[in-house]
Amino acid sequence: MRRKRVAITGTTGRVGAALAGKLADNHDVIPLPRTALDLADDVSLRTALDGLDCDVFLNPAALTSLEACEDDPKLAMRVNSAAPGKIAEWAAANGVRMIHFSTDYVFAGDTMVKPDEFAEAKPLSAYGRSKLAGERAVLHHPGHLVLRVSWVFGPEKPSFIDQVFKTALAGGKLSAVSDKTSLPTYTVDLCDWIEDLLHTPVGGILHACNPGAPVSWHGLAVRVVREMQQAGLLDHAPEVEPLVLSEMKSFRAARPRFTAMDCTRLASIVSSPPRPWEAAVREYVKSLCNGPPA
Ligand SMILES: NC(=O)c1ccc[n+]([C@@H]2O[C@H](COP(=O)([O-])OP(=O)(O)OC[C@H]3O[C@@H](n4cnc5c(N)ncnc54)[C@H](OP(=O)(O)O)[C@@H]3O)[C@@H](O)[C@H]2O)c1
Repeated sequence: MRRKRVAITGTTGRVGAALAGKLADNHDVIPLPRTALDLADDVSLRTALDGLDCDVFLNPAALTSLEACEDDPKLAMRVNSAAPGKIAEWAAANGVRMIHFSTDYVFAGDTMVKPDEFAEAKPLSAYGRSKLAGERAVLHHPGHLVLRVSWVFGPEKPSFIDQVFKTALAGGKLSAVSDKTSLPTYTVDLCDWIEDLLHTPVGGILHACNPGAPVSWHGLAVRVVREMQQAGLLDHAPEVEPLVLSEMKSFRAARPRFTAMDCTRLASIVSSPPRPWEAAVREYVKSLCNGPPA
């Protein structure tokens, strides 16, 4: 496969760091952290794009805090919609393919049916609205791809799974929301799918998460402690107290309840079938059990 020049934003974030690390094996990666390209600053954006020489532009960078977006919806729109739209326009004019990252939070999540790529998006929060506007701005230019991911976890940056692991290991009290359901996305698998997508000229929207039965945060926490027990790290799997979303006072922005996405299209495109989330979580928990390399 031909090496490509791949520009990547958000390389200090979970997805961008994973992509920059993994894709460097087979491609020439051009990292564009905020210091090199600030999505909120037009001058920075223009300066970074002027003279940028790449085949593909990956844009995982975003204002990802739901509460920050709720507090400053204009900034959310600038970073998550206007800037991706400008990058998409620049990319189309320069023969560059753009792969932009979006979220399951574009959905209202008020039915128990897995949305596919054609399902109606109806976001509940400023974050979701800004991400949906970003998708539309990018897809205004044919050939670009929008990848919706959900509940991303991996070694690059601690997430919910790492919190559960740490708390369980310390013998702390575990609790998790049980009435909010989705499907996780493992960065290791996401990078493999992106590697395939770099060589597959698909456009439009693509749902990219690990498949399987939809799971709540509570179900995910229960799975993590079971895996820890099976790996011999805990002598028993501790109880996880179920919480309800409405009790989460720190969540000022509305969260959708059911956003497990249908990933049939992804499975039809990538070179090997995406593994179920349970297998991905097992591998990740095992890697946490083994500790950092000496
Ligand atoms: N993590 C999830 O569970 C999840 C779920 C659904 C969708 N997504 C989507 O997946 C993508 C990647 O998310 P992530 O988990 O990697 O997020 P993350 O860990 O929060 O990282 C966000 C990245 O965006 C950068 N960024 C923020 N504002 C910026 C700006 N004004 N200019 C340039 N860079 C800026 C951050 O840089 P600094 O370090 O400088 O702040 C950071 O590198 C996002 O599009 C997100 O909407 C993520």
